[in-house]
Formats: sequence, C-alpha cells, structure tokens
Amino acid sequence: MEALAGIRRPELAAHQERSRHLVSRLGGDRQYEEICADLDRAVEFSACEGRSVADAIAGYLGDLSGAARAQLGTIVWSLGTFVPRNLPVMPKAAGRLMKTTEEHTTTRELEDIAASDPVLAAGILQAANSARFGSRFEINNIRDAVMRVGVPEARKALFASCVSRLFASKPLQEIWQHSQFVADSAWEIAGIAGMEQEAAYVAGLLHDIGRLAFVTAPVKMREWEESFLEAGFPRVYAEALVYQKDHAAFGADLLRKWTLPDGLVEAVEYHHRPELNKSALQAVLHLAEEMSVRVAWTPEEDLWREMRRRAALDQLGISTGQLSDLATTQKAGIRASA
Ligand SMILES: [Fe+2]
Ligand SMILES: [Fe+2]
Repeated sequence: MEALAGIRRPELAAHQERSRHLVSRLGGDRQYEEICADLDRAVEFSACEGRSVADAIAGYLGDLSGAARAQLGTIVWSLGTFVPRNLPVMPKAAGRLMKTTEEHTTTRELEDIAASDPVLAAGILQAANSARFGSRFEINNIRDAVMRVGVPEARKALFASCVSRLFASKPLQEIWQHSQFVADSAWEIAGIAGMEQEAAYVAGLLHDIGRLAFVTAPVKMREWEESFLEAGFPRVYAEALVYQKDHAAFGADLLRKWTLPDGLVEAVEYHHRPELNKSALQAVLHLAEEMSVRVAWTPEEDLWREMRRRAALDQLGISTGQLSDLATTQKAGIRASA
C-alpha cells in the first residue's frame, strides 16, 4: 500500500516507544528487543494486509519458535481467554424505534414509544425544554415535547435515552460522553456526504459499545489494559494484547446478538479499519472518531491515523478542508458552552 511505503517520523518514534515498553515488560532484557520490535511491526503492517491487530498478533505468535513464543506469551494474552459476561440487553424501545423510519414515523408513534418508558419520557421532555428549542413555557407532557422538537430531533433524543442506560454506571460515563460526541459528529459528517443522518447518529451512539464487554473483565486484565494505554498503545492495540479481540469486534458480536441491521453491525466492526472500504457508514464512524481526537482531545484508538483518515475521506468523497471546517465549528461550540 502506497501510504505505508515510508514510515513517517512520529509513527517511527511511536513504534520505538512501544517496542521499548514491551521489552521493559520482559525485564528489560535486550535479547528480546528484536522480537518486540518485530511484533510491533507486524501489528503496524496489519493495516496493509487487511488483518485486524488481534489477527496480526496471533499470526506473529504462531510463527515464533517455542522458546520465543513462551517468553512473549508472558506479556501477550497471558491472562487467559476473555469471555465477556452479563452483557446488557438492548432496551425494547430501541428495537421499536429501529423498526420505524424517519420519513414514515408519526408524532403519535413517537409519543407512544416515549410514553412506554420513564427514561425515554424524561429524555424527550429534557430535549424539548433545553435552551436549544428556546421554549418560553415549560413543556410537561410528551405530546407537546414531540411536537416542539419535531420528528427527527425526537427520534435522536429517544435513541440517545435508550442507549444512555447501557452506560448508566459511573465508570462508563466517560465512554457515554465520547459516544454522544461521536454520534453528533457522525450526524454532521453524514450530512456533508449527503447520507442518511439518523443512521449515522445511531451508529455513533453504538460505535464503542464493545467497550462495555471489558467492564466485565477480571481486575488484573483491566489493569494490564490500562498500563498499555498509559504507555501510549492505541486502544485497539492495547485491547488486542490483553483480550485477544478489540472493542470493535466485541461490539459487532453484541449488536449481532441484538439482531440489529447488518450494515450497522459491519460499520461498528470495521470502524477502525476504513482502508477496507466496507461501507460509507464505516467511513463516517471512523471520521467521527477522528473528530473526537481532534476536537475533544480523546486518545487515539488506532494506528495509522493519517492514512486511515484519507481512506475514509476518499470513501465519502469529502475533502480535508470540509473536515477541518467541521472541527472549527465544533471547537467554537465547545468554547461557547464552556
Ligand atoms: Fe470511539
Ligand atoms: Fe472505537
């Protein structure tokens, strides 16, 4: 792949840093410098081989001789096989909402869905009374709330309320805030690309749902994941080192279990690998993640940021300038609300 022909300096520095960290995990023994650097290279170049980071790690370990594999195995997948437990079920109302479409949904249907669940009712009332809709009078019933915000905004508010409960516990709040930011960005990017915005918004809310799986992991695994993140490993890489799979793969498994549409599942599964050109929705999610790094300063979740941004932009036919304009608008919005 042309984009990978030469490793740019910052990426080379990151590669060296990660390799050093892996060696330090092996007691700093210099005899492991080469295999650690090779492992990191195998992960980096998985992007041009169409492989996931987890597959690249498995492939590299599989090719090693017994002694080297045993040694590297003390830091890679050393805590056993991870099987997520007690995964959440999709709220019923989300299933009902998914079965309707923006064009064919009536305010009456949305009213019924909102009334079926107190969290949804509260969500739509909150939206209707927010400064954004500039109401001079307090709206205190669901019918008026739906009328006030209109069908598209009501659907957004209801989807957000459905998904928010999956992230209700305190440790998940940060992921929820990130998911909302990505959903808003996905909505904007889909608009620029002339795509259906609501599907992008919902995909944004759910894009990192796989991270819920890791909450069920043993403490030791969480600690290892955290230590790799602190050492500068992008999230996807850190997860693959500890859990054998990343959050995109776990997320797709969960959404499949919920029997959500294939296009949504595929976009979530590949949202960190836009070079595979799976779908426009996948590219939207990738760029929305990128906006989160750029505007909300969240840590990078994967490798090869520039190459992947370019692949996603090409897939959608939008320019770097359009993305930069959106970043500027979002930064101004964040400043204004601070
Ligand atoms: Fe994300
Ligand atoms: Fe992600």
